Amino acid sequence: MISGIWRLKALALLLILPQIAFSASPEAGEKAFQKCIACHTIGSGPLAGPDLKDVTTKRDNAWLIRWIIEPDKMLAEGDSIATELLKEFNNIPMPPMGVTEAEAKDILAYIKAASTSEPAPAKPLMKGDAEIGKKLFLGRQALSNGAPACVGCHQNTDIGGLGGGALGVDLTKLYSRYGGDKGLNIALLNPPSPIMAGIFSKQPISEIEAAHFTAYFKKTNELPVEEVNTEFFIKGIGTGILGLILVYILISLIWIKRLKGVRIPMVGK
Ligand code: HEC
Ligand code: HEC
Repeated sequence: MISGIWRLKALALLLILPQIAFSASPEAGEKAFQKCIACHTIGSGPLAGPDLKDVTTKRDNAWLIRWIIEPDKMLAEGDSIATELLKEFNNIPMPPMGVTEAEAKDILAYIKAASTSEPAPAKPLMKGDAEIGKKLFLGRQALSNGAPACVGCHQNTDIGGLGGGALGVDLTKLYSRYGGDKGLNIALLNPPSPIMAGIFSKQPISEIEAAHFTAYFKKTNELPVEEVNTEFFIKGIGTGILGLILVYILISLIWIKRLKGVRIPMVGK
């Protein structure tokens, strides 16, 4: 028989277990916060986004959790705090980073804990070379870890005529958007967009390469952003489709010949 005391203990355990399982962990939060360090510090000043020191005392907890999970939706809804912050931060919208509710709670526990301790001193930045940065951008010099060249997906005014890819955004004004040397260096080493993180987490850019890119983007920052020539794209796509149809017809013709070439002798037996 189970004694009354044991039954009580079992009951207490049942009540406590969910608390343990669901309480936020600052350790897990520190890991998850790696998704955020491209744009945020805790006590070392603003980057592309605000310094998050003491944000847990400044804002409502439910607001913070939702913001971390779906900032895009809150901005779209015109949330007043979010809209105000967006204006203050160069109109860079914080992207949704694929964070779950449990992760958001862990991250907030970490921010709360880290707000009371001194931030680690920042490493001094390396000095880059704009010329090398341009070569890396164009793929004329390979990235050390084998990541694809930026020009495959990105455009900037400096290379204008060469025409970069249209999948990614125009990077001409990246330098001012990310708040200069420090912000851009950190953002390049910790790619802030989900697509970029997908590519560059396995093949990261090295610190010196980030410095070369930063030096290069500092130069392109002085150029105006070119309007994307949509007519060119439409023509391009049009030509592409026409080309495909031609290739298809050609292949069909070759196949018909081949089929006949095989069939006739076989059937004709
Ligand atoms: C690409 C840069 C970028 C990334 C990555 C990013 N943020 Fe942000 N964050 C911003 C910007 C910019 C703002 C200011 C609001 C805006 O412009 O959308 C902001 C605002 C915030 C705020 C509100 C600050 C305040 O004063 O109320 C919190 C909290 C926050 N971010 C947390 C996070 C967390 C946690 C992550 C990682 C999961 C993250 N951010 C990833 C750019 C970023
Ligand atoms: C395979 C395509 C691809 C390649 C290659 C690529 N990018 Fe991107 N990049 C994207 C896409 C798509 C986005 C924006 C979409 C998003 O939010 O994820 C983006 C966004 C970015 C952003 C954020 C821009 C902003 O305004 O917030 C930066 C910075 C960036 N890329 C830098 C680079 C650099 C530097 C390279 C070369 C080392 C590079 N990218 C190579 C596809 C690519």
